[in-house]
Amino acid sequence: MTINRRQFVLAGLGLIAPRTTRAASARIEILPEEKIGMISPDIYGHFTEHLGGCIYDGIWVGENSRIPNIGGIRKQLVDNLKRLQPPVIRWPGGCFADSYNWRDGVGPRSERPRRTNFWADTPYLAKAPDGPPKYDPNEFGTNEFVRFCKLAGAQPYLAANLRSLPAYDFYQWIEYCNSPAGSTSLAGLRAAGGDREPFRVPFWGVGNESWGCGGNFTGDEYAVEFRRFVEWVPRFDVHLSFIASGPNGPDYAWTRSFFSKLVEKGKDKLRSVYGTALHYYCGTSGNGDAIDFTVDDWYSLLAKAKRMEELIRNHWQIMGEIDAEHRVKLIVDEWGAWHKTADIAPGYLFGYFPTLRDALVSGITLDIFNRHADKVAMANAAQLVNNIHTSFLTSGDKFTVTPVFHVFEMYAAHQGGTSVRTEILTPRLRPESAMGLPTLSGSCSLHGQHLVLTIVNADDQHAQDTEISANVGRLSPVAARVLTSKDIHAHNTFHDPNALEPVDQKPGGGSSPFVYSFAPASVTRLEFDLVGSPLNSG
Ligand code: AHR
Repeated sequence: MTINRRQFVLAGLGLIAPRTTRAASARIEILPEEKIGMISPDIYGHFTEHLGGCIYDGIWVGENSRIPNIGGIRKQLVDNLKRLQPPVIRWPGGCFADSYNWRDGVGPRSERPRRTNFWADTPYLAKAPDGPPKYDPNEFGTNEFVRFCKLAGAQPYLAANLRSLPAYDFYQWIEYCNSPAGSTSLAGLRAAGGDREPFRVPFWGVGNESWGCGGNFTGDEYAVEFRRFVEWVPRFDVHLSFIASGPNGPDYAWTRSFFSKLVEKGKDKLRSVYGTALHYYCGTSGNGDAIDFTVDDWYSLLAKAKRMEELIRNHWQIMGEIDAEHRVKLIVDEWGAWHKTADIAPGYLFGYFPTLRDALVSGITLDIFNRHADKVAMANAAQLVNNIHTSFLTSGDKFTVTPVFHVFEMYAAHQGGTSVRTEILTPRLRPESAMGLPTLSGSCSLHGQHLVLTIVNADDQHAQDTEISANVGRLSPVAARVLTSKDIHAHNTFHDPNALEPVDQKPGGGSSPFVYSFAPASVTRLEFDLVGSPLNSG
């Protein structure tokens, strides 16, 4: 085999891909002066629900557990969660939220009522006849959740019950959380639960999936409810951000009817909404198994993840028809792949081992959020632990981080940076199942004179030798970190928690353009200093 000059250069840098060698197949040009917007750290948020093993045995093990805990909260989870720099965590649902009475989860733990969980009637729970999650002991309530957030360094985001509690309870839950120490009876109740100082909860969801489990409203019916709930609540000097229940995937009619009805009493009502919450799960593919899937299933799931981009664009455009100044932002407070298997522990509804495929779903999705940093103010992966698109798995004293965790940790470097336009010239993937998915996709953020570039290579077989440059200045590579495996089914288990983890590479010399080979089936983070350009990230 003869080697061309470019391959020679790549080989010299030690960057020739292990499986395939060929001339550069892609080009990336970063345009640091073309700023899209600040990447809200809240895009890297999480979601926790009283569902399966998420709360009980996931976060909460109880103070008397032999599992190391901080006041009942699983210590190993907190320690690892901190590595993700979690900005915000949503709770208590999901669908659970609209059946939940916050009063059940406050006051002395031993006196709290035991209630039927929203998810009790799903067939999966046949394996958990008596205990949680079918029946909720309410040991984990508002105080415990806020303490968990504090331990992790995250802001709490509470989802209120709009379907089955009156607006007065919403009012009082805010009072319970945020009224100053010693000021109200509810502040006293909070203090009796161990937290004298106010929680100062900033984010409040007004219902969840109000088009479905949250009340089965139409968009305009819900707009009326929303206006009523947020019209008058106590503020206590806390800036409250109200999040409206938004559309289910491509339900554009919901967005249009909600906003049209909302402003019927004046455009100033737009000021009462911080964001509208889109939910989009790219689901599964093939037979729905999390681990046992074909190459076509690989491509079709990644292609479905890419749909997030069209949803953001289209909803944003409709919002702009009514909210021309775009005061209201998009919040994607539930997203992820969702497979059909459930094999972690009895009663762990939707608990399975995410694979490298789910890591790529994460990378594709987070890159989309970064690229739309001007539109997306917050996002919350569903869910944090033991559930759906999870970052952590636990069972008793067993614990592992998942491939999804690793992507969140790699991408945390984008938080607070300025998203900049980045053009990626890359072939479309050939298999029909890929539905025109580009081989490479990614995003780039600017931090002073430092650039963070994340790239997903969806090609399961071929490395992509790529020329990377900036249109101003020169890229000086400083670091490279890659998550990949020869096996697209790779995943971590309780027995082998390090089976799939990222590796650091030497990024090579300072050639211009910089040439890098993105490994097949990979998520990569490259970091550069931008040399010879007088840019500021402002
Ligand atoms: O995340 C699981 C469920 O998916 C949530 O409870 C609900 O909001 C959505 O349908």
